[in-house]
Amino acid sequence: MKLTRRQLVVGGAGTALGAALGGAGIYELLDRLADEGGGLPRRRAGGAEQHVVTLDKVVDNGVEVLVPPLHNEVVTATVRVEETRVALREAREALEAALRRLEGEYAPEPRGLHVTVAWGLPYFSRYVPSLADQHLPVDLRASEARGRSTRALIDAIRFPSDPDDLVLEENEVAVFFRSDNSEHVRAGSKALFASLEGLFEPTSIRRGFIGGGFGGEQSLPKKMALAAGIPGAELIPDTAELFLGFTSSQKNTMGPGRIANHETIPGLTDQHPDGYFRGGTAMHLSHIFEDLEAWFLNFDFSERVTTMIRPETRVAQGTQTIAQTEEDAADVEAVKRDARRHGAFGHSASIQPASRLQEAIVGTDETPYPKGTAIPQRADFDTLDNPFFWSSRPDVDRLSNEPAAGVHFVVFNPTSDDFHRNRLAMDGVLPDGTKLPIDPRGRGAGFNAVLNATHRQNYLVPPLRHRSFPLSELL
Ligand code: HEM
Repeated sequence: MKLTRRQLVVGGAGTALGAALGGAGIYELLDRLADEGGGLPRRRAGGAEQHVVTLDKVVDNGVEVLVPPLHNEVVTATVRVEETRVALREAREALEAALRRLEGEYAPEPRGLHVTVAWGLPYFSRYVPSLADQHLPVDLRASEARGRSTRALIDAIRFPSDPDDLVLEENEVAVFFRSDNSEHVRAGSKALFASLEGLFEPTSIRRGFIGGGFGGEQSLPKKMALAAGIPGAELIPDTAELFLGFTSSQKNTMGPGRIANHETIPGLTDQHPDGYFRGGTAMHLSHIFEDLEAWFLNFDFSERVTTMIRPETRVAQGTQTIAQTEEDAADVEAVKRDARRHGAFGHSASIQPASRLQEAIVGTDETPYPKGTAIPQRADFDTLDNPFFWSSRPDVDRLSNEPAAGVHFVVFNPTSDDFHRNRLAMDGVLPDGTKLPIDPRGRGAGFNAVLNATHRQNYLVPPLRHRSFPLSELL
């Protein structure tokens, strides 16, 4: 389905906030595609975590794959609350009430609407600086490596493959909405921000989609890229989960259960047994443009496989889901060997020395996690935002109405530094400090050559019980 010129507009530039929150722009197409799921009112099931979602599983090419919610939105904001105990209490109660209203309306699961509230360092520094000093989790591994106390939430950094004009953001809060039903995302986000008007001043709205092709249908990334006339769209495999044509949510590559919590990996942070943020996690949010034409035209299928997974990976033409078991996971030596032999490393393999457990552990949740278990819980999704659907600072964010292929990269790791270790490995800087002699933006460095990151920030996701204005109740 092709859209008319008017409908091709992504959203944002020049659009008032109220209209942007409710409006759909190019994503109107999503409303016209078959939406799944109803959403029965239900309270959030068990669990202390905000970030953990129970996902359906399917089997593709003999590999178990988790099915992420089809529709996604992140709204970032600045807090507009006086820096007093009373004002913060009112704001906390208002946010908590608004979140509970949403949970009353939509079950917090993919069929309903799952909401995660994450807080940036500027919130902690402005509203609760001394409580933050006392209670923010300390990353014990990072503290030891740097020789000084390092929190589990630290400022985002520029990575070797980042363009010079990348924006390091300073939002105070980010709210992440996920659902199989695009209307739930749109209505939920609009209702939440309408009821908090005056408390939160949105700085950006970011929208997108993932999957939809596991039953053999044309997937959302394919449909949306075609409709927007993105160069290279016709080259995307019909059922691709993401624009680049490979499944990214197989069960073995996603951290199971509570492994991404601050406290689960013994000795990683100081949150076990009774930290204030026990049950919480760190979140990274970035936006990355993808050059689909370069990916599909400059790399043939077998090069796309070796670039995405590992230089020695061989699979049948057209395979989208490629098994990455605990035993398949590459360690530092394997990645160094690949770099020597091939002058290249794959995206998945380069990250695995940082993203997989290098030794078996028993978590503080008493779960045994074998060697090779994945730690991060990725929740990224494709987008046509350029780079956002809407921004309060269109010039700084270089907002455009032209649709552009990209990813809003959302991931939960136990600490920000744990994410940085993963992301550095993706650029050839391994956890043992080795810098591989490969240009971090070159063809040998996974698919970095077709990516361009535009924005980044780290956040902290408190456990459910402290999701609203964390620490302010202790003032
Ligand atoms: C920008 C576009 C990106 C795309 C399209 C993409 C796609 C993929 C795909 C297809 C896989 C294979 C996983 C599977 O078979 O289930 C993968 C693995 C992974 N990616 Fe990315 N990725 C992107 C960016 C990133 C970034 C920025 C990071 C940050 C570090 C990252 C971290 C990971 C991790 C941790 C894994 C799992 C590795 C493992 O433990 O096996 N990805 N990605």
